[in-house]
Amino acid sequence: MKTSTGVASSLLLRLDARSPTPLHEQLFEGIRARILAGALAPGLRLPSSRQLATELDVARSTVLQALDALTAEGYLVARAGSCTRVAPELPGLLEDRSRSLMNRSSRGPRLAASTRMPKAAPVGAPRLGAAPRAFRPGVPALDLFPTALWARTVSRVHARASTGLLDGGDPSGHAPLREAISTHVSVSRGVRCSPEQVFITTGTQQAFDEVLRLALNPGDSVWVEDPGYPGVRRAVLSAGGRPVPIPVDGDGLDVAAGLARAPRARVALVAPSHQYPLGVTLSLARRMALLQWAGRTRSLIIEDDYDSEFRHRGRPLTALQGLDDAGCVVYVGTFSKSMFPGLRLGFLVVPPSLVDLFSAARAAGSAPASMMEQAALAVFLAEGHFARHLRRMRAAYRERGEALVDALVSECSGVLAPRPCDTGMQLCASLAAPLSDLRVRDEAARLGVEVAALSDYFLGRRRDAGLVFGFGGVRPDALREGTRTLARALEAAW
Ligand SMILES: Cc1ncc(COP(=O)(O)O)c(C=O)c1O
Repeated sequence: MKTSTGVASSLLLRLDARSPTPLHEQLFEGIRARILAGALAPGLRLPSSRQLATELDVARSTVLQALDALTAEGYLVARAGSCTRVAPELPGLLEDRSRSLMNRSSRGPRLAASTRMPKAAPVGAPRLGAAPRAFRPGVPALDLFPTALWARTVSRVHARASTGLLDGGDPSGHAPLREAISTHVSVSRGVRCSPEQVFITTGTQQAFDEVLRLALNPGDSVWVEDPGYPGVRRAVLSAGGRPVPIPVDGDGLDVAAGLARAPRARVALVAPSHQYPLGVTLSLARRMALLQWAGRTRSLIIEDDYDSEFRHRGRPLTALQGLDDAGCVVYVGTFSKSMFPGLRLGFLVVPPSLVDLFSAARAAGSAPASMMEQAALAVFLAEGHFARHLRRMRAAYRERGEALVDALVSECSGVLAPRPCDTGMQLCASLAAPLSDLRVRDEAARLGVEVAALSDYFLGRRRDAGLVFGFGGVRPDALREGTRTLARALEAAW
């Protein structure tokens, strides 16, 4: 077998017959690189293909293939019956290119004046590794997810995919999934809707972005819960709105404070069934007051219902949307908790008056999420696997939540007071004065435990110190072990 070819001395090129890269591609790359480096000057006449083939000891067809490709890309010009030359119009472009290469580290494309580099460490627990560990908030029980069953469902859907599905489908979402979601939220969350009101998203953040961009004029005020989910603030700011922090107490968002601070706000963004991070529920009186305000001022309420399926005992509380007679609530759901965050699927339920607008906005853009994953999820729901998984998760979160509360009571009593926890996969505990939650968070991270500081979640004045524990993704024994380590961190921070 030939292991090397000749050298095109006229072009200072050498090809390698042992390389897995075909010879014509090597020749193409070699000539292109020398042109871009300025070693083959614009207008330079190349040796004939016959001469190059002889010098390189390759077939002439190999040379012709490379020269044709370089001509097609504009590096060479070839006139019929004449020689091949390096394109004469390259000099300016090449100079610009070498200048821009020199400047590459100092400059990039111009961006909007408001663009800032996001903070490297987002609010929440410091991440100490890839695998979920005590007490990373927001992580569901990934260890209990029926991965094999999901994989079989996905592969079945792929194997039977229609051309309609392969072609991209409806940008509002896969119709069977919209239908399955509409049935599910009607039964389990008391949401009143038809499938046309359901729009598939890539998760909560996209839902917030989409609604806020349609609802807000630049500078419009938006009520946001304080303390609250940091993703809410980010979405309001990026849609050009002004987040107005509204305090949250034991009855949820303080609607009277909202009315006093920003009565003409365009949007209120709330998690009424299970507020993040305090875990409180919006009282019925406040639900009614909020709906009355929105109906009167024609404002929009965005209901973030991220994890209230997981009421540990009894029926999940019904959604605010179910009480909305004026059509001012957009309900936002996600499969990040009920399935797994990497799935990146969620949904919006919009009031009937906004269905056409949302359909048109989607039709003007593109489908936000993979149709295949949507189709697989539709099957997962329709075949009852989702409901079964939810039931198992509810029991697991009850067990994990109780294990954490018991451990906190026995290891950290007098310092940490856990708030009641009957829903979801995280818990907030108040911290006794004069301990700083930020200091405890940092001490805990030093000992290998992730816990979030409540004061990180305030947008306005920090009113309370506390710790936010995620327990969903962690087994009971690891929760107990983590609590013992946390007790040492509390001592160190005292
Ligand atoms: C309050 C709240 N809303 C929504 C979400 C889910 O976000 P996404 O659907 O974008 O994954 C989370 C996740 O942690 C959350 O804590």
